[in-house]
Amino acid sequence: MKKVSVNLGRDSYEIKIGAGILNEAGEYLSALGFSDRAVVIADETAANLYGDTIGQSLAGSGFDTAIVTFPPGEASKTLDTAAELYTRLCEAKVERMTPMLALGGGVTGDVAGFVAATYLRGLPLIQLPTTLLAQVDSSIGGKVAVDYQRLKNIIGAFYQPRLVLADLSVIRTLSTRQVSDGLAEVIKYGTIKDASFFEYLDKNIDTIRNFNIDAMEEVVSRSAQIKAGLVEVDERDFNERRVLNFGHTVGHAIESVSKFTTGHGEAVALGMLAAGRISIKMGLFSQRQLETLEQLLLKAGLPVKMPRADISAMMKALGHDKKSVGGKINFVLLRSLGDAFVSNDVGHETIEEVLREMYEAS
Ligand SMILES: NC(=O)c1ccc[n+]([C@@H]2O[C@H](COP(=O)([O-])OP(=O)(O)OC[C@H]3O[C@@H](n4cnc5c(N)ncnc54)[C@H](O)[C@@H]3O)[C@@H](O)[C@H]2O)c1
Ligand SMILES: [Zn+2]
Repeated sequence: MKKVSVNLGRDSYEIKIGAGILNEAGEYLSALGFSDRAVVIADETAANLYGDTIGQSLAGSGFDTAIVTFPPGEASKTLDTAAELYTRLCEAKVERMTPMLALGGGVTGDVAGFVAATYLRGLPLIQLPTTLLAQVDSSIGGKVAVDYQRLKNIIGAFYQPRLVLADLSVIRTLSTRQVSDGLAEVIKYGTIKDASFFEYLDKNIDTIRNFNIDAMEEVVSRSAQIKAGLVEVDERDFNERRVLNFGHTVGHAIESVSKFTTGHGEAVALGMLAAGRISIKMGLFSQRQLETLEQLLLKAGLPVKMPRADISAMMKALGHDKKSVGGKINFVLLRSLGDAFVSNDVGHETIEEVLREMYEAS
């Protein structure tokens, strides 16, 4: 098992990473001082797959557990789901010291986290992430939110969990596409912050994709370390933490223009390549390193060619319609693999040029 600490003063917590760790949830909860009762929030898929494991572990440590489920998918990340969950918490007579365990992917972590942050002004939250994306990204850092009026994550809070348990054995039930989705964020961490991690990924990508547990442990723990490090220095996302947006500016535009037929990881992969190309145009980054990044994304099962889309729709999605000629937006750029920074010096002409080149190459 590996442990990563997130040091945030009195809001500090540990991320425990290992195969089969969900079986020990009850013991870890007792060790944090909880007893008697717990509530598990899970989407139906995660509940079907791993609800019993958690239930048994909690029962074994003397917890009386209520499990509350909701339908899987982004469409559930709403105030309506939150309201439904509040109702169920009232019915179950959940109290301020009752720990809430969020079992599932990022959607579960975000909506259950939002409910934990607000119900009785805050319930102790334990994240039990079951997708690779949730293990390396959404369960760490305390951002919890729901979508509202088609705007993503627009209502939310910063609310740190008390513990994160990332069980590597759950990754086996994910689809190849879901694993690649998580790998996009993993590759992002190496690219923005850690050249040696990038090299590790480059050398071991096939082993990782074959669910080798030692390799997965390395991948999840090093990713968690990088994210935790950025959260520690900039919990509220005003400065250093913003480099985590690498690949996400163009990525979000691709997602929205494709009406979300392009998955998040796929869009981020393309967004990272766009950011790399912009960095080259600005004389910061090398063509050779861009090719290394592109090859790794390919080996991770991610796309490197742009889906067909209207460039002006893309620019509009990026907040650059014709009215903002000469306008600048914050953009995460690369100096080298492992070294990223936030620039506010990227003109929209440069972005448009890069998007055109990427479409023509596709
Ligand atoms: N809070 C943050 O900092 C943060 C960061 C990144 C992403 N997010 C959010 O995370 C969400 C995406 O997360 P996600 O990709 O995990 O999506 P998700 O939670 O919708 O999970 C994807 C699908 O996988 C299923 N699933 C979960 N675990 C499984 C398992 N072990 N085996 C088989 N199927 C399983 C789920 O039921 C769901 O159908 C988005 O809403 C995004 O906004 C939040
Ligand atoms: Zn992302």
